[in-house]
Amino acid sequence: MRTVIYNIGQLVVVPSGPLRGAAMNAVERIDNAVVIIEDESIAWFGAKGNAPKTDYEEAIDVHGRCVVPGLIDCHTHAVYAGDRADEFTLRTKGATYEQIMQAGGGIRSSMRAVRGASEDQLRSESQTRLKRMVSCGTTTVEIKSGYGLSPDAELKMLRVARELAEKTQIDVSTTYLGAHAVPPEFEGRADEYIAAMSDDGLLTTIRDGSLAEFADVFCERGAFSVEQSRRFLEACKRFGMTPKVHAEQLSHSGATRMALELGAASVDHLEHVSDDDIGALAKSETIPVLLPGCNLFIGGQPAPARKMINANLPVALATDHNPGSCTIESLGVIMSLACTMLKMTPMEALVACTANAAAALRRSRVVGAIEVGYQADLLVLDIPRFELWPYRVGVNPVRDVIKRGRPIYR
Ligand code: NIG
Ligand code: FE
Repeated sequence: MRTVIYNIGQLVVVPSGPLRGAAMNAVERIDNAVVIIEDESIAWFGAKGNAPKTDYEEAIDVHGRCVVPGLIDCHTHAVYAGDRADEFTLRTKGATYEQIMQAGGGIRSSMRAVRGASEDQLRSESQTRLKRMVSCGTTTVEIKSGYGLSPDAELKMLRVARELAEKTQIDVSTTYLGAHAVPPEFEGRADEYIAAMSDDGLLTTIRDGSLAEFADVFCERGAFSVEQSRRFLEACKRFGMTPKVHAEQLSHSGATRMALELGAASVDHLEHVSDDDIGALAKSETIPVLLPGCNLFIGGQPAPARKMINANLPVALATDHNPGSCTIESLGVIMSLACTMLKMTPMEALVACTANAAAALRRSRVVGAIEVGYQADLLVLDIPRFELWPYRVGVNPVRDVIKRGRPIYR
C-alpha cells in the first residue's frame, strides 16, 4: 500500500534522536513538501518538485497545512482509577503535595482506588484518557504502574497498560514502578517492601509475560532512599528491565548519579539537579526528561532546562500525566509550558517531545523522526507553521493523526 501526502505547507523534518544541545534548535523545514508512505513506514519525503513519479493507492491533499512527527509522551501514569480533585482543592488552601502525601493521601489515595477497581473498570477509565491523548497528537506513550503497590495490583496495572496498545492503536511502552510509595501494610518497613517487590517470582512473571520494558522508582525523601532505589532497580535489571528514575523532584537526593551508574534510559523531573549531575549527564547516554506540567500543577521551581541544553544535553519533555501532581494530557500544552517556564524555543520543545522522547524510550531508531524507514507516525496540523502550536496555549491544532501509515484520528 502506497500513500502520498501532498500540499504540505511546512514539513518539520525532525531527524532521528537523541539531538543534543544546539542541534535541538537546528531542525530543517521543507515548504510545499510531499511525504510518501509505504505500508507502515516513511518511504520518501522532500520538496514537491523532487518527488518521484509513481502510482499511489491513496493521495491525501492537506491544503498547505503543517506536518510534524507524531508526539511521544515518554513519562505518564495514565492507568489509574478515580481522581484526586479533593487534594487539588486542599492545595488552593495552602496544603503542599508533600503534606498531603504524609497525611496518607497522594499516591496512597490512588492506590486505594486502583486496588478497589476491577480490571475492566481500570481499562475503560484509562482508555478514555488515552483517546484524548491521541486526539492531542500522542502516537507513542509510556505508562507506569505504581498505584497497585502489591504484586497482584501492580500486575493488574501492567496488564491493563499492555492491552491499551490494542485498544487505542498507538504504541504503549510499559514501566514497572513497584517502588512508588510504601503501602500502609509495610509502614515503617520500606526495606521489606523493596524486597517483596523485587521478589524473583514476581519479576519472573513480569519478564515472562513481557509486561514491562522499564523499571522505575520514586527516589525522594518520604519515598525511597538512593540505596533502596538501587537495590530495586538492580533486581529489575537482572530480569531484563531497563532502569528509569524519578530523580531530584522535590529535593536533591543523588538519584541521578545512581541512575547513571546503572545505565538508566532516563532520569525524570530534575527540578533540583546539581551542576555536577548535569556534567555527568553530558557524558552519558541517559536522557533527562523534564516535566513542567508538575511545576504548573503543584508549584515548585522548574528544572534548569536552558542550563542543560547549553551543557549539550538531549532534553526530553513529557506530561507526567497522573491524578496527583499533573493532570495535563496534552503534549501541546507541555510544549507551551516548556517555552514560557523553561525558556526552551518552540523547536527545542518539539524535538523534546519527538526525537529525544523516543530516545528516553530507547526507540529512537523507530519513531520520533521524519526519516526514510521510520514508522509513518505523522500529525497534520491545522496551522501553516509549527510555532503557532505552542504559541496558542491550550488550542489543539491536531487535525489528523496517522499511526504506522494509517489514520487513527480525524
Ligand atoms: O511523577 N513523583 C512521583 N510520582 C508522580 C506523582 C504521582 C502521584 O502523585 O500520584 C510524579 O509526579
Ligand atoms: Fe511521574
